[in-house]
Amino acid sequence: MSQLDQVNLFRGWPSADLLPTERLKKAAVDALSNPVISTEGYGYGPDEGYFPLRENIARWLTEFYNPVQAIDSNRICITGGASQNLACILQVFTDPVQTKHVWLANPTYHLVFQTFEDAGFYQRLGGIPEDEEGLDVNALALALEVFEKKLPANNEDTRHNIKSPKPHRKSYRHIIYCVPTFSNPSNKTMSISRRELLVRVARNYDALIVCDDVYDFLPYEQSDNSIVQSSLPRLVDIDRFLDHGPRERFGNVVSNGSFSKLIGAGCRVGWAEGTSDLVYGLSQTGSTRSGGAPSQLMSTFINELLEDKSLQRHIAETIIPAGSRRYALMISAINENLASLGVTFLSDTEHQLAIGGYYVWIELPLPLDTAQVCKVALDRYNLVLGDECLFTVPSTTPQTDRQQHIRLCFMWEAEEKLAEGVKRLGSVLQMLRENVTFEK
Ligand SMILES: Cc1ncc(COP(=O)(O)O)c(C=O)c1O
Repeated sequence: MSQLDQVNLFRGWPSADLLPTERLKKAAVDALSNPVISTEGYGYGPDEGYFPLRENIARWLTEFYNPVQAIDSNRICITGGASQNLACILQVFTDPVQTKHVWLANPTYHLVFQTFEDAGFYQRLGGIPEDEEGLDVNALALALEVFEKKLPANNEDTRHNIKSPKPHRKSYRHIIYCVPTFSNPSNKTMSISRRELLVRVARNYDALIVCDDVYDFLPYEQSDNSIVQSSLPRLVDIDRFLDHGPRERFGNVVSNGSFSKLIGAGCRVGWAEGTSDLVYGLSQTGSTRSGGAPSQLMSTFINELLEDKSLQRHIAETIIPAGSRRYALMISAINENLASLGVTFLSDTEHQLAIGGYYVWIELPLPLDTAQVCKVALDRYNLVLGDECLFTVPSTTPQTDRQQHIRLCFMWEAEEKLAEGVKRLGSVLQMLRENVTFEK
């Protein structure tokens, strides 16, 4: 076992120095000192969540995404974060009999797999490859076509629905899960044309696209500290206006937002956006009906940060400059320590990619194997890494026997430990290199 201090380049949390701690402390005191706010905060609250927060989120998203029409608060409900809300979406908008399959990019954010399995989709997850723009939507369309052709001709499942029919719910035939901007783990971003194609595919196949839009607020090209705006619409914005808008009242996209990467993961507050019918339906999940929206008290604190725009300023003045610095530190450490060992990554300068988010996805040269590298890194160098195996969609046949990628997070460890971690990885590769023959 290594005597070195641990360096953890796997953990995808924000480092404590990125959090608006002082502002949040004041927000909590202010909210709890005001009986109008605290009375609401201590209560169960409405199913759709704390109304001032819904309004402020709608205003903030309108400024950030600048959609053709302002976002109304009836398109927003408060959630317990993106993970909790994925489970709620599946409770209301899928049925294990009527919903045939779940489609995800391969690789995907690993912690969603169990949520899908808990909702009845064990062994019904389909991994779709990525290219430079993330989820390969043409490959997805083909997979859907082949899948549908294999189903019985009348396409109607004669088994009974498992869930009771209710006017606020619908069982989509397919679910597509994706992270369209600065994806986890591969940090890819879909272009507008790809986003439009994906919405059209979802409409054709009666699919609900669940987007975790949790890294959108962290683009690192920003040249000054002004309030940031997104250069890309979300899929939910596209569904609102593309080809005269949604095909039916629930639409085909739900955006899953979260404060976890901006204020602190322990807040457990997020929001969902979709058509007003979809959002209302979501707020009628059984666990919400019993007790109101999750995280009601915390919602009143977070609302203070949106009310005076201190969250927006914190993102622009603290998180984005730190993220840009951290990203640059990690890239230069990779170039210095790993490039000569054959490690590659999608370089933003070569490919003109959008940079942002939390991760760099590196590729090891053959015949190195990620699992072996991660094990040696931990055992010998106390270095924790994100092994590609974790992010591989279960039951998807890997394209090769070997897994070649590692996810490196640059937002958790202290800045001075980022280069140290990459240096240790270089030593691991050097050590293994002496024992294996590399392909050129
Ligand atoms: C893509 C993605 N979705 C969801 C989450 C978790 O969000 P929350 O903390 O709001 O549940 C993460 C955290 O790493 C993530 O990367």
